[in-house]
Amino acid sequence: MTMSIFTYFYYKCLAVLLRAVVGLGTRVSATPDSVRPIPSRDVGRSIKVHVYRQSSSSPSPVLLNFHGSGFILPLHGSDDEFCRRVSRETKYTVLDVPYRLAPEHPFPAALNDVEDAINYVLARPDEFDLTHFSLSGFSAGGNLILAASSLLFPPDTFRSLVSFYPVTNLTIDPASKHAPNRQGRAIPVPVSRVFIGCYVPPTVDKRDPRISPHFAPLDRFPRRMLMITADGDSLAPETELLAENLQQQQGWQVDYQRMEQCNHAWDKQAHAAGTPQHEAKDRAYGLAVDLLNE
Ligand SMILES: *[C@@H]1O[C@H](CO)[C@@H](O)[C@H](O)[C@H]1NC(C)=O
Repeated sequence: MTMSIFTYFYYKCLAVLLRAVVGLGTRVSATPDSVRPIPSRDVGRSIKVHVYRQSSSSPSPVLLNFHGSGFILPLHGSDDEFCRRVSRETKYTVLDVPYRLAPEHPFPAALNDVEDAINYVLARPDEFDLTHFSLSGFSAGGNLILAASSLLFPPDTFRSLVSFYPVTNLTIDPASKHAPNRQGRAIPVPVSRVFIGCYVPPTVDKRDPRISPHFAPLDRFPRRMLMITADGDSLAPETELLAENLQQQQGWQVDYQRMEQCNHAWDKQAHAAGTPQHEAKDRAYGLAVDLLNE
């Protein structure tokens, strides 16, 4: 334990509170085709992955998806609609992977789970087409895939990467992050501070590129990338800056698309057809599908 017991207790209380509040407004109900326990590096522990599979071609392209959580919220299954759409409109088998949450399991527990899931796929070339191995992630999940792809695996392991409204530079204090559209409803600063405080133990440097993938070497990222940002999200500027830096490199195809009138994780609330938010969700998921189909 790299957190003092008092710090841990403080964050544990806040995490329990935030989980309760988010639980009131969010009902996570996923309908994957199957659930597969995959082994973690910790003996006796498995990671229960949701599998979405439409095509029966074997080996099949494979997308690993990681949900949003602020590193603390148990929202596995919240990307059900996205995973289903990808499995319908591409040849990809989608594995929606949960990961351990802070403060019970601070950095690098979540990233270890991501690495274990990736290694599970890499060890199965008969089942998965490893020339079409792609990653997607939302928010904290978007952070985890940026870190994993650029730091933990050799270049060109992944065909493409789609990151929805990720956090990429945790060294910036949440109070000095501003959404491009100030009318938007950004994540409240104290909540962002709880997310970061839970995930990053005080003894760990937030400039570690495994925490702030902004500091990873640009030429280690996958060559095909799509970043989705939202104009009401205070995380948009740092992600767009990272995308612009990546675009400077020869041989990289990096696109970022800012969704107007949308907040952080807007797609999870956009149920009503005909609204700008619903349209933006449709477009953002469609852009991801197009990239995967390339
Ligand atoms: C991350 O944020 C810090 C401010 O805390 C800034 O100095 C730095 O340039 C940012 N890093 C990148 C790579 O943009």
